[in-house]
Amino acid sequence: MTSKQSHRKDEHVSLAEKFYQTESNSSFDQVRILHQSLPEMALSDVDATTRFNGKSMPFPVLIEAMTGGSPRTGQLNAQLAQLATQTNLPMAVGSQSVALKEPDQTASFEVVRQFDPDGLIFANVGAGHSFEDAKRVVEMIHADALQLHINVAQEIIMPEGDRDFYWLDQLAEIVAKLNVPVVIKEVGFGMTAKTVQKLMAIGVEYIDLSGRGGTSFAQIENFRRSQKEMNYLSEWGLTTVEALLEMRKLASRPQIFASGGIKTPLDAIKALALGADYVGMAGEILHHLISTDYEATLAWLTDWLGDFKLLMLLTGSKTLQDLRKQSLVFSPELASFAEQRFIS
Ligand code: FNR
Repeated sequence: MTSKQSHRKDEHVSLAEKFYQTESNSSFDQVRILHQSLPEMALSDVDATTRFNGKSMPFPVLIEAMTGGSPRTGQLNAQLAQLATQTNLPMAVGSQSVALKEPDQTASFEVVRQFDPDGLIFANVGAGHSFEDAKRVVEMIHADALQLHINVAQEIIMPEGDRDFYWLDQLAEIVAKLNVPVVIKEVGFGMTAKTVQKLMAIGVEYIDLSGRGGTSFAQIENFRRSQKEMNYLSEWGLTTVEALLEMRKLASRPQIFASGGIKTPLDAIKALALGADYVGMAGEILHHLISTDYEATLAWLTDWLGDFKLLMLLTGSKTLQDLRKQSLVFSPELASFAEQRFIS
């Protein structure tokens, strides 16, 4: 017997795949990096390494929060953890709130430690949970960090969703008291500079501004509604690129994960050139796992990481810091966004 919440986890996976778009409709097409014909470096000079909370990472790439909470999604978590360990990438599990209510679902999250015992693993739960819950989800998988997701738009579209969004006090308590870093994360609707300022005021040091352009929870939750769809919200939120531009308004910034619509290494390179410290991929990895198999997904991801280094070479970037110095050109629509938001 699967509970309603557990069934919802399976539905999210099938609907993310149902609405997966092969063609990139992401905001990254609105940004160009200008070609340089003389990089004056070799592939062996490329250093894509970075650090998260003192731990070294070979690439600034995270396998994003997706799943867990049912037997089927437990199997997916096991595969994601194997990918993480074989590629040395960090990974996040999906929301563990189901396991707080239904202890028999904890196995679908704990499984990640079986396959990735020493990797960098992020726990995940929604804002609105208490400090005690936050501690429990971190302990459940011996996580190195916690993602707290903020998903107002998703909840609003769900008929059974929350309608009470007093979150900041609880977020502040968790950030202050938890013994691992806390990342405040959107789920595909992006964040403005103002949101990030509010988060920084309560001590937040890491954000995941997960923007529009990839997996759409507006589309997924609208499909799950049997009536009175709010389809007019399909374009709600900021694209990932718009959210990254918003961060230019801030005098000081937290560490930034950029996710939402990252499919190719070129998308990732552009996000980093726009100021992200790390990028995250969810839907694209899930699509490969579901539409091919584990071995093919591992081969694809390994190639992806190899191509990422080739693009660093193509842009003459020896380090991730060098990516920030790229000359970028924006589409007229994006330039207009920047102008209206007073971003230079
Ligand atoms: C998600 N995402 C997500 N995020 C989160 O913080 N907690 C969660 O439980 C989930 N669940 C979830 C399920 C599935 C099936 C997908 C595809 C995604 C959101 C995810 O982490 C990411 O923010 C968005 O999907 C945008 O990135 P992509 O998919 O465009 O790469």
